[in-house]
Amino acid sequence: MWRASVLTLFPDIFPGPLGASLAGKALAAGAWALDVADIRSFATDKHRSVDDTPAGGGPGMVMKADVLGRAIDATATDARPRLFMSPRGTPLTQARVEALTAGPGVIVVCGRFEGVDERVIAARNLEEISVGDYVLSGGEIAAMALIDACVRLLPGVMGATASGAEESFADGLLEYPQYTRPQVWEGRPIPDVLTSGDHGKIAAWRRAEAERLTKERRPDLWTAFLSRFRGGSRAG
Ligand SMILES: C[S@@+](CC[C@H](N)C(=O)[O-])C[C@H]1O[C@@H](n2cnc3c(N)ncnc32)[C@H](O)[C@@H]1O
Repeated sequence: MWRASVLTLFPDIFPGPLGASLAGKALAAGAWALDVADIRSFATDKHRSVDDTPAGGGPGMVMKADVLGRAIDATATDARPRLFMSPRGTPLTQARVEALTAGPGVIVVCGRFEGVDERVIAARNLEEISVGDYVLSGGEIAAMALIDACVRLLPGVMGATASGAEESFADGLLEYPQYTRPQVWEGRPIPDVLTSGDHGKIAAWRRAEAERLTKERRPDLWTAFLSRFRGGSRAG
């Protein structure tokens, strides 16, 4: 079973949104597993310290390598990828999410304060993963984002499995616009083609819209898409 193990100073935050909706139902049904380790329980001094001042000075505190090392050793007893949520990390992509979903699960370390002692990242082979070019207060929300993105791709978790295949990024493009009833809302009709019943025309319209939106909003994705299909018929 696909298993996420989270190491955090704030275990009570979990499952949080991972316990709701389809991911939560799948968790309750045993389609995936979540366990949460409290890093503080691996502290050994009488104050249960988990952090200390940065070597060399500077603001904030740094999570201690000895405490975090023990927490990782107790949790990471199998071959799952060991991830450390970090703004310095490799940006998370849908392709990486798919690869993680295809494996046995993830071990996710959540940082706090100024981050963690660099030595534990190296000594425990932690792979740094970022959820975007901004700084969160801690790794928990980032870990939830990563786990949620993985869990919804697990077999049987999403109601209609086909919906994943057409989503943003699945084909290197952003998703086309979606509409539902009423037919006209505040004077704005649903585009005629979508109610025409002509599946060929609907597919062509959606494809053109996906390409238009990607080109307008994400030139980086559009360039990658064009180079991926250069010479093929898909990019036109
Ligand atoms: C306040 S941040 C530390 C930021 C660090 N001093 C830096 O400048 O890179 C505390 C923790 O939040 C998590 N975090 C913050 N932003 C993140 C992001 N964009 N992606 C993943 N994790 C993030 C990391 O676990 C990090 O150790």
